[in-house]
Amino acid sequence: MRVHVIGDSLAKLSTVRAMLERNGSITSELIGDAELKNGSIDAVVLAVDLGVVDNITAIKRIEKRLHRIGRRIFILDRRSRLSTVQAFALGATAVLFAPVGRAQLLATLIDKKPHDAFAGEITRDGQEAAAIGAACIASMFSSVMGGAPIDVKGIRGTGQKIADSVAEDGLSNWLATVRRHHEGTYQHCLLVTGIAVDFGLSLGLSRADLERLYLAAMLHDIGKAAIPLTILDKPGRLEPHERALVETHPAAGYEALKDTAGMTPELLDAVRHHHEFLDGSGYPDALLAENISDIVRILTISDIFAALIEHRNYKPTMPRPQAYQTIQGMNGKLEKPLVTAFRDVALTR
Ligand SMILES: [Fe+2]
Ligand SMILES: [Fe+2]
Repeated sequence: MRVHVIGDSLAKLSTVRAMLERNGSITSELIGDAELKNGSIDAVVLAVDLGVVDNITAIKRIEKRLHRIGRRIFILDRRSRLSTVQAFALGATAVLFAPVGRAQLLATLIDKKPHDAFAGEITRDGQEAAAIGAACIASMFSSVMGGAPIDVKGIRGTGQKIADSVAEDGLSNWLATVRRHHEGTYQHCLLVTGIAVDFGLSLGLSRADLERLYLAAMLHDIGKAAIPLTILDKPGRLEPHERALVETHPAAGYEALKDTAGMTPELLDAVRHHHEFLDGSGYPDALLAENISDIVRILTISDIFAALIEHRNYKPTMPRPQAYQTIQGMNGKLEKPLVTAFRDVALTR
């Protein structure tokens, strides 16, 4: 059997190669340089961390050639439904989780049936929606990085699933599910979307407005796609030049989306202006109250609350009452009646 191995580290390449070497001809390359030029192979094994956006971008780059190979086995670093959904979305025919044994890998290479490691497991709808949401955000980020158009219809459908889950199971369940299963920017975007949906529901927004709101929430930080993870995930304070770079994300997001089919002026406005404050102290355009739309005001409150309560490995999660207090203390920046209306969402729903 001719097997090609792609990995995101030399250690992974040599581990997988060592397992297969006695059973056929093995070639390999690192994901960063992967070209998959040799078409005459029976199977490809990808041992990569799908939590790394660069890896997803690299896989998408070789997607066409990858799909021509009959068996595509992904070995993932962690057992998670999100990574599994992502792997199948990227073309996996089977998914395994490290550490993988030799016998298991050989059996999977020979097995022709499509194989979902999670098949038959009972998962709650919320987990499903969160996994689909995270996969959607991941693919949105990698599209923007690769200069490919983003799929607005797909994002709308995913937003609808998140809205259903929040409406059915309540915000608290959504927050718990997302914080338990997702990290970093994906976690943040999912939290903002759930909070914005619940805020919108509590305000009695129309269906059309609610849809605008969750689309805006899913897209709002898309400009972070261009910012290195070492800065986005840096524990503690950012240096001034790092902060300046982070603050480019609303305008960068706007630029990335402005020519996208299906994008509306109000969505672009939300992406560009979700860090503006009523008193003119926000960025990038230092807008004053009269230029900040209702949907942006709702989004901004949801965004700040999500950032305060998100789960980070290096800091404890801020309790919801304390996060709400922080928002209440932002005098002059946020709309007072909206902050008051947010109380229920923040504390009890
Ligand atoms: Fe942001
Ligand atoms: Fe944000």
